[in-house]
Amino acid sequence: MGEASRLGGGLERIERQHAAGKLTARERLDLLLDPDSFVELDAFVTSRSEGPAGDRAEYLGDGVVTGHGQVDGRLVFVFSQDFTVLGGSLSEACAGKICKIMDLAMNVGAPIIGLNDSGGARIQDGVAALGGYADIFRRNVQASGVVPQLSLILGPCAGGAVYSPAITDFTVMVQGSYMFVTGPGVVKAVTHEDVDAERLGGAITHTTRSGVAHLAARDEAEALDFARRILGYLPQNNLGDAARVRTEDSAERADAELDSLIPDDATKPYDMHEVIRRVTDDGAFLELQPGWAANILVGFARLNGRSVGIVAQQPAVLAGALDINSSIKAARFVRTCDAFNLPIVSFVDVPGFLPGVGQEDGGIIRHGAKLLYAYCEATVPKLTVITRKAYGGAYDVMSSKHVGGDMNFAWPTAEIAVMGADGAVGVIYRDRIDAAMDPAGERSNLITDYESRFNNPYLAASRGYIDGVIQPSETRPRLIAALEMLANKRAVNPRKKHGNIPL
Ligand code: HXC
Repeated sequence: MGEASRLGGGLERIERQHAAGKLTARERLDLLLDPDSFVELDAFVTSRSEGPAGDRAEYLGDGVVTGHGQVDGRLVFVFSQDFTVLGGSLSEACAGKICKIMDLAMNVGAPIIGLNDSGGARIQDGVAALGGYADIFRRNVQASGVVPQLSLILGPCAGGAVYSPAITDFTVMVQGSYMFVTGPGVVKAVTHEDVDAERLGGAITHTTRSGVAHLAARDEAEALDFARRILGYLPQNNLGDAARVRTEDSAERADAELDSLIPDDATKPYDMHEVIRRVTDDGAFLELQPGWAANILVGFARLNGRSVGIVAQQPAVLAGALDINSSIKAARFVRTCDAFNLPIVSFVDVPGFLPGVGQEDGGIIRHGAKLLYAYCEATVPKLTVITRKAYGGAYDVMSSKHVGGDMNFAWPTAEIAVMGADGAVGVIYRDRIDAAMDPAGERSNLITDYESRFNNPYLAASRGYIDGVIQPSETRPRLIAALEMLANKRAVNPRKKHGNIPL
């Protein structure tokens, strides 16, 4: 390949890129891929269009570097936008190069990783650039659920260009990069509101407020490392299983600390991360979207070397209640796991759906239904551990036996009921309490009675809705044994064009 192509937009622009604290398209690929594994394609492709003055940019390779390489010995297809060539803007030729590697990736069943750093549609290419974006979007959709797709945002990603990352499975943003559909100028013109780029579409915004991105990285090296780590938990495609990883962590390991982790006072929070870390291989948990909808935790871990997706309530935030954002976050993750054959392990401690006019107005019915739908639809092995509360509709939603949980465990501290004692007694014994000589005493007695009858896992276990009431300390061995038992699970949903998830 010619030296000219390696230099993209030239030395001066490479220096400008470095001065802005950014790596070049090729330096990024060097960090992402195994050494010497990159095979470049289309290095001699040039732009097809002329500028307004009849000039023509003749950069070899145009504004994107494409090809295939390896990550930890596994084949991946990559594109890396080259900001030194006309701001990495997407020309018709660039789109053709990206579409070519996407088609190859789908044909051979390998992940696609996109490194985005671009001023958007190449203005000189007009509608051909817009068409090029749409060609990519359509392939993103075709590839969805077939091969893993990862997007890294390492510079600007603006306008309609954001919709490619938005369709992919995982988006990682580096600090200083941004994604917005309408830039600060447009916002100001239309709403007279002054906003800076970070507030509008930076890494913090998208990992804490909008939920668009899964992880924010301090620098590009960390962003690329996140991509490698995410990939490590995934199979090459929907027909394969994730690689099993050798572990020194014994499948029999019990953890006595878990037996005393749940506070005696049922209203006291605890950190569900602690439960997860004490159960997974080597205590590892790659959490996704940690800063958004933190009342639910999602991410990857391994059990006896097998990749699993973890969904867990976080009692330390909003008491672990399900709300709009947590339902959306978990629903997408459950579907991601199901698409790529990752068993789902759910740790449940949920007091119910978050009440309030704001939630109802915002459509908690519609959004909560997404999570219910996702669990019902998922055919991968589904394991559930109820650590404490499982109340009301949220009991049903959270991987209950009824929505297809394969193995449902409860700790002895589990409380499974239509609602908590306080509310229940107020509804069903209101007349009795009102008529009592000592209403407060009567109420307290009735609460104690309700708690002894309903605040335990044994009613559910007596019906077979809970397969086993287990000691918290034995959670890891029990989950691993269940995973082994379910390793060859085969379940298929009825044939249809596609379901109609309430979006
Ligand atoms: C052609 C572009 C370009 C574009 C940047 N350049 N964007 N050329 N088409 N879209 C060129 C610049 O002319 C410049 O060339 C070089 O790239 C670097 O740009 P600078 O402006 O000097 O860099 P910087 O100051 O870092 O600013 C980066 C930027 C800015 C914020 C991205 O360039 C910018 O605002 N660009 C326009 C963004 C935009 O509106 N794009 C269209 C969005 S709509 P020289 O030769 O001077 O170095 C869209 C629709 C997608 O994308 C459709 C999907 C449905």
